[in-house]
Amino acid sequence: MLKYIEMDYKLPDLTCARKRTREDVNRRVFNIEEKLLSIGKDKYYLIKTHGCQANERDSENIAGLLEKIGYTKTLDESKADIVIINTCAIREGAEDKVFGELGALKRYKTLNPNMIIGICGCMAQEERTVKTILDKYKQVNLIFGTHNINDLPRLISNIYEENRKSIEVYSIEGEVIEDIPSVRTSSHKASVNIMYGCNKFCAYCIVPYTRGKERSRLLEDVVKEVEELVNNGYKEVTLLGQNVNAYGKDLDADYDFSDLLEAVAKTNIKRIRFMTSHPWDFNDKMIEVIKNNSNIMPYIHLPLQSGSDNVLKVMNRRYTSQTYKELFDKLKTNLPNFAFTTDIIVAFPGESEEDFNKTLEMVDYCKYDNAFTFIFSPREGTPAYNMENLIPQEEKNRRLSVLNEKVSYYANLNNKKYQDKIVEVLVDGPSKKNPNIYSGYIPEGKLVNFKGKCNVGDIVKVKITEALSFSLNGEQVE
Ligand code: 5AD
Ligand code: SF4
Repeated sequence: MLKYIEMDYKLPDLTCARKRTREDVNRRVFNIEEKLLSIGKDKYYLIKTHGCQANERDSENIAGLLEKIGYTKTLDESKADIVIINTCAIREGAEDKVFGELGALKRYKTLNPNMIIGICGCMAQEERTVKTILDKYKQVNLIFGTHNINDLPRLISNIYEENRKSIEVYSIEGEVIEDIPSVRTSSHKASVNIMYGCNKFCAYCIVPYTRGKERSRLLEDVVKEVEELVNNGYKEVTLLGQNVNAYGKDLDADYDFSDLLEAVAKTNIKRIRFMTSHPWDFNDKMIEVIKNNSNIMPYIHLPLQSGSDNVLKVMNRRYTSQTYKELFDKLKTNLPNFAFTTDIIVAFPGESEEDFNKTLEMVDYCKYDNAFTFIFSPREGTPAYNMENLIPQEEKNRRLSVLNEKVSYYANLNNKKYQDKIVEVLVDGPSKKNPNIYSGYIPEGKLVNFKGKCNVGDIVKVKITEALSFSLNGEQVE
């Protein structure tokens, strides 16, 4: 540890990351020193992004910052002067991929010793991971966390000016910084952060440690961003937060998520989605707003995690299978044609065969349109990391495949309802393999591949000719 402190590194600290105080969140607007504006002139950047939509949105900000200081985008590692890997720490598998990529980048650094190799995102917030990188992946000379993306220009400048590594990660509750430059990856769909962090501390989850405390953006800032997107021709926004239903609770304001949704629905944006809802804070007012605004898409992602009350309790999920069912029934009754998806973890420590069967029963009850299913992955620093009663690997795999079979059965059954129907597709673009085949999403969030002639960002009518479990095929009719 000492040797890193001596080298003027700022390393992550899990104990600090766990802290939650009542102190007000610091809010500020991004600014940049004049002298940093040309440090990337005639240089190229490449960003590799892992993980969720929050990371993808962060990568748009990283791209924005790099372009602000003069860098140009490339997809070619051999041309890149800086490669940044924006990492995910949610499961071990996600981390392994990053270590593989770092290994592969070593070769390019040998060819170009001035290349900066940077690591950011959730892995950069983990104590043990950063130490592993410093000890074993010497090619990395830039590490920054989820809280100081805005500092990237200064951190790069330190490397050039002082010919040293820049390692700066803060384990703090976090701020809200508006107007960080951004280069969006799509010209018709956009993610809009409405809040950052998470206070739920589910026993298995690393996110509250890597992303800090729940803190909302002001309603007027979110609406302004959506209005700008509409003016720039965007058709769809996804409002992002780890737990969007808790939006506004940290603010001294008289609005909540339903008010925000309504305000966004009043803009001229054609499609609104939101991710992710926690069953705990989903209230009736939200259901009313969703029901009454046709530009809020008929799709809800409602993570279940487990159908067993015993497991839910140890997971610290704050609901029971009964209260989840009650919410689900209420949503189904009020929003009859909506699609529902979920997240499920199998083989949580101590999950018995009976507990697992309760999860299967819940899938039978809810008949989800799709479910993202995971084997429990122990994350250092979380309460579940040290839990005993682990399930053997073979049994973990068996549970996952039994669950997946059930999930695809209902996915298929739900998709069959679309056979021969005409649906509206927001076009993402032509397929790379066949320029006559396009793909896009229907309001219910299902992927459609179709024959047609249209442009990216069009909303076109497509007749469904074939329903598969996880996508639909069709032909454009208008
Ligand atoms: N192991 C397995 N799955 C996890 N998730 C979060 N943490 C873990 C973990 N340690 C899953 C949850 C969450 C989704 C984003 O990832 O299901 O909803
Ligand atoms: Fe993780 Fe739970 Fe927060 Fe979701 S609500 S990010 S699963 S701690």
